[in-house]
Amino acid sequence: SAATRGNDFEIRVCGVEDGDRMMEFLLEHYYREEPLTAGCAPPEPDEKDKQFLLSNLPHGTCLLMLHNDRIVAAAVAGPKDAGAVDELFEQAAQLAGTKWGRILGILAIAERDANVFKRYGVDKALHVHAIGVDSRMRGRALGERLMNALTALGKELSYPLLTADCSSFYSSRLLQRLGFAVVNRIPYTDYVDDAGEQIIRPPEPHLALETVALRL
Ligand code: ACO
Repeated sequence: SAATRGNDFEIRVCGVEDGDRMMEFLLEHYYREEPLTAGCAPPEPDEKDKQFLLSNLPHGTCLLMLHNDRIVAAAVAGPKDAGAVDELFEQAAQLAGTKWGRILGILAIAERDANVFKRYGVDKALHVHAIGVDSRMRGRALGERLMNALTALGKELSYPLLTADCSSFYSSRLLQRLGFAVVNRIPYTDYVDDAGEQIIRPPEPHLALETVALRL
């Protein structure tokens, strides 16, 4: 019945053994639309990008939402500290000329300019690397419920801060609704190569990479 419909959805930590299933879901419902991925060639994510998301599973900080055993939403998150910014710039330089290198380049700038460790006076944070909802089930607050569960998990694990780089207009709006503050904004038109060419060109309505943070 409508009154118990919410109970058909289960949220649980995504284990390493769920990695293949989670990636299958993300390829279908996250990567195709995620603005950094969609905004530069080729359309498919690089192998290193997928490996990076999967590398977060052992931390026990990634969540799946299931409906009758089918994945309907996923959130990939992991720990980060003040060393993240140098690592990102280094990896972006090493992978220059590749799709994942272009994406890491803007994430490095966001990390530097958001400066969350200094801004909030904390030494670690739980960072959301990806959130995706089944494209047929958007607008039913599934993303909201998953983010609320991630907030609770972050608190339980004693993280003082939850952060995310919202590449999507929709994810930024969603997280702001949940109380996250926008601490940095990079319009996609500002991320250009040496020739002044815009590196990432997502479709509308995605205009900027917005870094958001919530004290836990
Ligand atoms: N395209 C079109 N409309 C959308 C989209 C979308 N990608 N996402 C949400 N909407 C609409 C919903 O249909 C809803 O409309 P309604 O009010 O008329 O019903 C409204 O926006 C509000 O939707 P929410 O409930 O806030 O969003 P939801 O939780 O369903 O999904 C999410 C948000 C997870 C960001 C989803 O858009 C998605 O999976 N996108 C693809 C992957 C992506 O871009 N992820 C975020 C990248 S940034 C990061 O991961 C940290």
